[in-house]
Amino acid sequence: MTPEEIKALVRTVPDFPAPGILFRDVTTLISHGKGLSACVDHLADRARAAGAEAIAGMEARGFIFGAAVAARMGVGFIPVRKPGKLPVNTIGIDYALEYGRDRLEIDPTAIPQGQRVVIIDDLIATGGTALAAAELLRMASASVTHALFVIDLPGLHGAARLRDAGLTVEALMD
Ligand code: PRP
Ligand code: HPA
Repeated sequence: MTPEEIKALVRTVPDFPAPGILFRDVTTLISHGKGLSACVDHLADRARAAGAEAIAGMEARGFIFGAAVAARMGVGFIPVRKPGKLPVNTIGIDYALEYGRDRLEIDPTAIPQGQRVVIIDDLIATGGTALAAAELLRMASASVTHALFVIDLPGLHGAARLRDAGLTVEALMD
């Protein structure tokens, strides 16, 4: 299946979560077995080319694609969690949202010194989540050079922000 065929499986929902927003919803993609598998194949090819030794994914939708890619590659998966979820000592980073702030946390012992970790999420919008995840993984001594997404919303300039920060960014569709 080509990225264009995979794109046809993503549903666009008007006025969610607020009036005027066209929400790209991957529920319809991940419920389609061949579509999900093809999507994971494309991401795994790119993660392999990036030399990934582990995959990190952001809660919650990044877990779906990230863990599937890690399993397909036979490498480990690092969950980048919302606050208060991990039962051990964590390191965390606060970051700005369009309105307000949020926080991500990881277990730093999950990452060997210098491990090449590729970030995977379903979608990049402003890029704030992925930038924070990259900084947090680097705080745990990971080598982070690539971030992969199923969907890029180019109008929100997130990929450009990541590239300005020195990351290589790839998405299967916009
Ligand atoms: C969405 C999406 C990304 C992030 C992208 O997650 O899955 O992680 O927003 O936005 P950004 O580029 O502007 O940071 P959300 O926070 O809605 O969480 P969810 O996966 O739990 O629904
Ligand atoms: N879809 C899913 N998540 C999002 C979107 C979207 O269109 N915009 C910002 N986060």
